[in-house]
Amino acid sequence: MASNEPHHDGLTGAFYGPNIPPEVPPPNVHRPKHRRHEFKPYTLLCTAFKIFTLVLITIGIIVLCLWLIYQPQTLKIHVQSANLTLFNLSASNLTLYYNLSVNLTVRNPNQKYNLYFKRIEADALYNGPRFDFLLLPLYKQGRKNTTTLVFRFQGQNLVNGDTVRSTFDREKGEGWFYIDLKMYLKVRLKMLIVQSVEYRPDVSCSLRLPAPGNSTSAAAGFAVTECNVDSLS
Ligand SMILES: *[C@@H]1O[C@H](CO)[C@@H](O)[C@H](O)[C@H]1NC(C)=O
Ligand SMILES: *[C@@H]1O[C@H](CO)[C@@H](O)[C@H](O)[C@H]1NC(C)=O
Ligand SMILES: *[C@@H]1O[C@H](CO)[C@@H](O)[C@H](O)[C@H]1NC(C)=O
Ligand SMILES: *[C@@H]1O[C@H](CO)[C@@H](O)[C@H](O)[C@H]1NC(C)=O
Ligand SMILES: *[C@@H]1O[C@H](CO)[C@@H](O)[C@H](O)[C@H]1NC(C)=O
Ligand SMILES: *[C@@H]1O[C@H](CO)[C@@H](O)[C@H](O)[C@H]1NC(C)=O
Ligand SMILES: *[C@@H]1O[C@H](CO)[C@@H](O)[C@H](O)[C@H]1NC(C)=O
Repeated sequence: MASNEPHHDGLTGAFYGPNIPPEVPPPNVHRPKHRRHEFKPYTLLCTAFKIFTLVLITIGIIVLCLWLIYQPQTLKIHVQSANLTLFNLSASNLTLYYNLSVNLTVRNPNQKYNLYFKRIEADALYNGPRFDFLLLPLYKQGRKNTTTLVFRFQGQNLVNGDTVRSTFDREKGEGWFYIDLKMYLKVRLKMLIVQSVEYRPDVSCSLRLPAPGNSTSAAAGFAVTECNVDSLS
């Protein structure tokens, strides 16, 4: 009996004993569960962000490669010959009488693109202001192809500016007139059926022309002149 009592006590002790451990483990089991529930959306977000970043970088690299491969090259424009057969400034007012014919070549250096001109405007300027302009016929410029455009500014026009007469007199004495030719283009590139946006490159050519009637300058002649052309971008 006496031995039973301690056993009973031992049992009760053992009964109290297990009561404590179960209280400790449950929090241990519950905590990881809680942690998993807290971490899941965060890791999902992390993975989504990583994938998003990778996709962005991949698209960026593809676009860069396409841009490098398909980047259009600038048009090459040269004035091959130009004849100034009349260039007179009226003695009494600022009326300019002119007859200028121009032969220029347009080269499309692109291997991949055909060019479709939507507007070709050619302006003639003297001492700053424009004294005439032309709208040239539109055409298609093939890949790696060169086209010759021949056009003529002819007529009379009032020119503005205080310095026109002094510039005119000086240049006539020197035997060379300096006329600027500017072109304003609107062009679309086309590859197969894909058509680009409309580009608007400006063209600028500085022409050095023998003064009409001056045999010394005429003998030296007009030199082939390369024009500055804006890039297609
Ligand atoms: C242009 O000027 C030259 C010399 O000054 C003159 O001989 C010629 O008649 C003029 N021509 C015109 C169209 O004014
Ligand atoms: C300019 O002068 C010329 C004569 O040299 C004349 O025929 C012409 O009508 C004048 N033009 C103007 C706008 O005054
Ligand atoms: C203009 O110059 C061209 C040569 O470049 C000539 O054939 C033409 O007859 C000239 N026109 C006038 C009105 O002088
Ligand atoms: C224009 O210039 C090119 C190159 O010099 C030449 O082959 C062509 O015959 C010229 N055309 C005209 C109409 O002057
Ligand atoms: C300029 O004149 C020369 C000689 O007459 C001729 O060969 C050339 O084709 C002319 N150029 C233009 C653009 O009229
Ligand atoms: C270039 O243009 C010329 C004249 O328009 C044409 O005869 C030729 O076939 C073209 N070449 C190419 C490769 O398009
Ligand atoms: C003709 O041009 C030359 C330069 O090419 C110049 O030295 C000469 O003065 C000019 N002659 C005339 C009559 O203007």
